[in-house]
Amino acid sequence: MTRAQRKRDHINYALTTGQQEKTGFEDVKFVHQSLPDTALDDTELQSRIGELSLSSPIFVNAMTGGGGGYTSKINADLSHLARETGIGLAVGSQMSALKDPAERTTYEIVRKNNPNGIIFANLGSEATVQQAIDAVEMIEADALQIHLNVIQELTMPEGDRDFKSALERIGRIAEQLSIPVIVKETGFGISKEAALALSETSISAIDVGGFGGTNFSRIENQRRQRMLNYFDDWGIPTAASIAEVHSVSDLPILASGGIRNSLEIVKSMSLGACAVGMAGAILKSIVDKGVDATIEEVNDIHTDIRYLMCALGCTRTEDLHKVPLILTGEVYHWLAVRGLN
Ligand code: FNR
Repeated sequence: MTRAQRKRDHINYALTTGQQEKTGFEDVKFVHQSLPDTALDDTELQSRIGELSLSSPIFVNAMTGGGGGYTSKINADLSHLARETGIGLAVGSQMSALKDPAERTTYEIVRKNNPNGIIFANLGSEATVQQAIDAVEMIEADALQIHLNVIQELTMPEGDRDFKSALERIGRIAEQLSIPVIVKETGFGISKEAALALSETSISAIDVGGFGGTNFSRIENQRRQRMLNYFDDWGIPTAASIAEVHSVSDLPILASGGIRNSLEIVKSMSLGACAVGMAGAILKSIVDKGVDATIEEVNDIHTDIRYLMCALGCTRTEDLHKVPLILTGEVYHWLAVRGLN
C-alpha cells in the first residue's frame, strides 16, 4: 500500500466508521444565571495560547498533507476556510515532506493561501530537532504540534512498535525551537500523569486530543486482517481529559477530540481550555458540503459562542474559566475515581 493510499483510507474511514459520539460533554452542565450583567455586543472571541494571540478560540486540528492531489485540494480548502473565518490551522504530519521534497507543495499551499494566518506545523514524537526546525520553516509556522499516537501506531499494520524516549526528544525540541511547542494526543486523551511529565519540559501547551470523536483504532482496524478491537473503546473522554490536565498543569490547555458545536466549545473552555481544535467535524463538512457552507457554519459557531458567553455572564473567553459547572454521570464518576473533584 502506498502512503497516498493510506492517507486516502484515513480520510474515508474518518468520515464514516471512525467517528464516535461520547466525549463526556453530555455530562457537563451549566448553571443558569438570571442576572448575567452582559451585553451580546460586548462579547469578544479573542483568545491566547500562552504568547500566541488568536482572533478566535477555534482552530482546525492536524489532518492532511502529502499524498498528492486529493490531500492538496483538502488543504487548499482548509486554508481558504481558515483565512475567511480567522481561525487557526494545523497541517497534518510533515514527516512525508521531510523525506520526499515532492510532497512539500501540499503543505506550502496552506501558508501561500493564508500569509497572515495562525498556522501550526506538525510532526510525531519520533522527530529530531533538525526535522522540527525544517517542518516549521517549510510553512513559516507560528507553533509546532508534536503528536502522540501510540494506539494508532499499534493498530496500524505498518506502524511503529517502539515508543521509548519520546519525552526526551520532545524536551530537546521544545528547548531548541524559538516558537511554542504544543504536544497533542490524537483521540485517546492526555492523562494527569502524562501532563505532569510534559509540564517538566519546556513545551508551551497541551492539546488533550481526547476520546469521543475520530477514533484511530477503529480506522486502522478497518485496514487489518486480524482486528485489535480491544483498543476501540480505549481512551480518556475529552471532557475528563481537560479536567485531568487542568488538575496538575499550569500550561495552556487546548481541547480537542469530538468537538462539533458551539456548546461543546464553551464547555471545553469552562473546564479550563483556552482554545479548541476541530478535525473530523470540519473535514466532514468540507467534503460533504463544500468550503462555502463550512465557512458559514464556522461563522454561525462564532455567533453561537458569543450568545452562550452572554448568557453565562462572560465578555472575554478567559472569563469562561470561572463559570460554575455541574458534572454528572460518567465524567463525575471518572473524576471521583481519579481524585479530581
Ligand atoms: C488526523 N489527526 C492527525 N493528528 C496529527 O497530529 N497529525 C496528523 O497527521 C493527523 N492526521 C489525521 C488525519 C485525519 C484524516 C484525521 C481525521 C485526523 C488527528 C486529529 O488532529 C485529531 O487529534 C483527532 O482527529 C481527534 O479530533 P476530532 O477529529 O475528533 O476533532
